[in-house]
Amino acid sequence: MSDVSGTRLVRVWDLPIRLFHWTLAGLIGFSWYSAEEQMLDWHLRSGMAILFLLIFRILWGFFGSSTARFSQFVKGPAAVLAYVKGKAASGLGHNPLGALSVIGLLGVTALQTALGLFAEDNDGLMAGPLSLKISPDLAGTLTELHEALFNVLLALIVLHLAAIIYYAIRGKLLVGPMITGKTKVESTADTHEMQPGKAWVALVCAAIAAALTGFVWSMGG
Ligand code: HEM
Repeated sequence: MSDVSGTRLVRVWDLPIRLFHWTLAGLIGFSWYSAEEQMLDWHLRSGMAILFLLIFRILWGFFGSSTARFSQFVKGPAAVLAYVKGKAASGLGHNPLGALSVIGLLGVTALQTALGLFAEDNDGLMAGPLSLKISPDLAGTLTELHEALFNVLLALIVLHLAAIIYYAIRGKLLVGPMITGKTKVESTADTHEMQPGKAWVALVCAAIAAALTGFVWSMGG
């Protein structure tokens, strides 16, 4: 529906994406805190919850709502360049440049989580569920990588927040839509509404993610 300002509200992010986003952000903060405070049992649980979220997000990227689908927002270098040069409209959902940051955040978080599965702490009291499947030397190396990669993730998060502030200064507010799921577009703009995913598909994706996470956890014995 359009209003006097010549804009209308359209749906952009579905509930699964919003829940995924804010839970992920919270859990990454909590994972950092629990590692700093040596609350390693909580750190492990938090990591497993992130694993669940990532598996769900990957599945939702194939079977979910239109703006969640990788096929809709992952574009080649030509499309990114055209967008940067202002020669391409961004459309609804992630723009081609923002998509790079999404892939970076998801990819590095996935790698960080995978490394955590093989990591163990100095006294060997707390160990990722897969750490016993490899040699102690390799587990030590992967633990160091797990610690180092956090700095890369932190840099990406800072970049992510900087981009959001940059867009806000230019008048494009992104945080509200990630909370409410709706964004304003010009009434005249030929913007298609987000096509929501199906609730039962979301449940199946969540069940698969839970089963795989449970399986990985059970490998710790
Ligand atoms: C640990 C911190 C965070 C991580 C790992 C993270 C990760 C992500 C990811 C993966 C996406 C893509 C969503 C998807 O399609 O799955 C995203 C989008 C987004 N995030 Fe975050 N995020 C973090 C913190 C924040 C915070 C603190 C804010 C706001 C203050 C924020 C605001 C947004 C917004 C507005 C979008 C949508 C961007 C767009 O319109 O394309 N994020 N974030």
